[in-house]
Amino acid sequence: MPLIAGNWKMNLDHLQAIALVQKLAWSLKDVKHDFGDVEVAVFPPFTDLRSVQTLLAADKLSLALGAQDVSPHLSGAYTGDISAQFLSKLDTRYVLVGHSERRHGHGEGDDIVAAKAKAVATQGMVPMICVGETAADLEEQGAAAVPLAQLEAAIAALPKDAEFVIAYEPVWAIGSGEPATAEQAEQVCAALRARIAELRGAKVAAETRLLYGGSVASQNVAGYLRQANVDGALVGGASLDSQEFSRIVQFKKHVTGA
Ligand code: 13P
Repeated sequence: MPLIAGNWKMNLDHLQAIALVQKLAWSLKDVKHDFGDVEVAVFPPFTDLRSVQTLLAADKLSLALGAQDVSPHLSGAYTGDISAQFLSKLDTRYVLVGHSERRHGHGEGDDIVAAKAKAVATQGMVPMICVGETAADLEEQGAAAVPLAQLEAAIAALPKDAEFVIAYEPVWAIGSGEPATAEQAEQVCAALRARIAELRGAKVAAETRLLYGGSVASQNVAGYLRQANVDGALVGGASLDSQEFSRIVQFKKHVTGA
């Protein structure tokens, strides 16, 4: 099933979070969105998670909850860290690991990303592993080399039966208003799926969802989802606007022209 995920980054306090989720729920109800057809997930900041979880449970909303980061450790003297155990208790289903803003802004390398992915999986949640090349990588090595290396490192320590999601987010396309073309996204996602097949077999490769992220908007989302190897989108800025995010979730209407 396709997955549309909204990464709010460091935006919206817990009251604003409740307001946005309510508006999004109304908007999706208005259009009779079928959550069994396209899965929708939101990734609020840590301090909003409990409020959003409570709202989703009280109103029986079918949105999945995601977290933006996690500690590689499960408990102990790690001031400021958030354990995967805590996130799991909040009914969190997905956890972003290896977002480029963590890799580049916080110096997180492949070893930390792998440890985080493992911590998420061992607590029964699904790591959403972000991979992507910088503009310099693209020029020097082409589009796929860095994402493939990041994928391989991130899943190395995962239990063989663990579900994971890969989000291909070219760093140069994030927040830049310069999205990759659908063909570029497809090319890298196809290479990622082929590598997953080599590492985990054809069944896992077919079942693993590969998302594209980087300046996704309602105007361009359908082009990505039309590609054979793109199974969803990881949306940043456009997920902060309930109407726009709702239009993105309804990408099938754009694909079929209905
Ligand atoms: P934008 O959609 O704002 O480019 O952000 C993409 C992203 O980083 C999602 O994780």
